[in-house]
Amino acid sequence: MPVKAKLKKSIENLKAELKEKQTRLTEDWENAKIGIKARQKLFTREVKAKQDEFLIEWDDVQERYKDKFDQWLDRFEIDELETMLDRYKEESEPLEPIGENDVLRMLPMPRPLNMTLQQALEKRRSSRDFSGEPIDEEMVSSLLWAASGINRKKGMKRTTPSALNWQDVTIYVVQANGIWKYLPKRHALLFIEGKDQREHFGEIKTWMKLASQHLVFVSDKRKTETFTTKLVQKAFKTDFSEGELNDRARAINVGVKVQAVYLAAAALGLGCTCRILRDDREARTLMKLAPEEKIMAICSVGEHPASIFDHVI
Ligand SMILES: Cc1cc2nc3c(=O)[nH]c(=O)nc-3n(C[C@H](O)[C@H](O)[C@H](O)COP(=O)(O)O)c2cc1C
Repeated sequence: MPVKAKLKKSIENLKAELKEKQTRLTEDWENAKIGIKARQKLFTREVKAKQDEFLIEWDDVQERYKDKFDQWLDRFEIDELETMLDRYKEESEPLEPIGENDVLRMLPMPRPLNMTLQQALEKRRSSRDFSGEPIDEEMVSSLLWAASGINRKKGMKRTTPSALNWQDVTIYVVQANGIWKYLPKRHALLFIEGKDQREHFGEIKTWMKLASQHLVFVSDKRKTETFTTKLVQKAFKTDFSEGELNDRARAINVGVKVQAVYLAAAALGLGCTCRILRDDREARTLMKLAPEEKIMAICSVGEHPASIFDHVI
């Protein structure tokens, strides 16, 4: 066989070999992905089963060792007990899950809030005077981080507290390019709905139309149904699982975030006003909320106009 033909043949062989390897690798990769997903599912199920098992045994243990249990509870500070239980809960909480077709927008680093707390508290006010100009993405990043960002890698804990560490409140950003959901652990926005939907998030008042972003606070009742809630209920005979106490705790969980946004807005020189949406039907549909999710409050934010001529009409 002539050299040229030989070369051609060996290149073709090599190509075929490479193609085969590539196909095998792709198959292996797909199988590995399926395997990981299955293992993740199994792990979550195992943790849940262990928790249920523990709770079933709990009544029995309590009954048998009532005196000992009371002594034990006396020895522990509630804080210590909660930390212990939080650790248990965190183990079963993975990173926010992302679907294959989900669109994520990574947020830039938050712009530092270079104002003393004293100054921010002095400047904090409800301001309904917006220019209509979009605010910088770094500032959106700062507002979200201030309200719900991770400030401790260990345990992925947040800038704001929540009852029994429920972390039941999710923030949605409603802006000119659609509706996005804030994922604190990834410090990213998840795309929910396209187009400018701001008009469905408040009564049509001029000032509200000029807010560049509405931060919408949604509390999910399902997130309050935790192992910690059940344990506290059993150990301290306090029912946080539903009713007035549950409502109160969830309202506070939102309130602390609202104040954090107000303070961050003050530090960034932005306007901010908190609102309660009276008729939230349209907004709920657009946000694709589950029945257990409730729109609790909205913070409308935006740049102040530099002068009367700076308004966008
Ligand atoms: C839960 C809540 C709901 C509010 N709802 C509205 C509202 O619908 N419209 C509005 O213009 N301001 C609203 N505000 C802002 C208050 O009117 C404002 O905080 C109050 O007048 C005090 O003013 P300041 O925030 O400048 O101190 C609300 C504030 C809170 C905390």
